[in-house]
Amino acid sequence: MPVLTIHPTGTTIQAAAGSSILSALLASGADIAHKCDGKAECGSCHIAVLEGRKSISKTQRLENDRLDAMIGIGSKSRLACQAILGEEDVTIEVLSLA
Ligand code: FES
Repeated sequence: MPVLTIHPTGTTIQAAAGSSILSALLASGADIAHKCDGKAECGSCHIAVLEGRKSISKTQRLENDRLDAMIGIGSKSRLACQAILGEEDVTIEVLSLA
């Protein structure tokens, strides 16, 4: 069961491998926007993956298209609703609050 470390607070939670980062955050009660409910349409669940990138699912076309249309995207950017956790620990920064 991977540990998800959430910045800027530094909170850590146990997350289920195979779940999206958005699902893990919402299950833990963390504040994160998710206006399209995980359909990769809104970009409001923007996060930066600081550590553990290789453990999460690769970016798919739908997510890539959404990220390409957004401002302020960097090489660590992901949509929390599309990033699926693997077995390794992951550290993220939530870039948009609910
Ligand atoms: S919740 Fe809308 S893109 Fe992730």
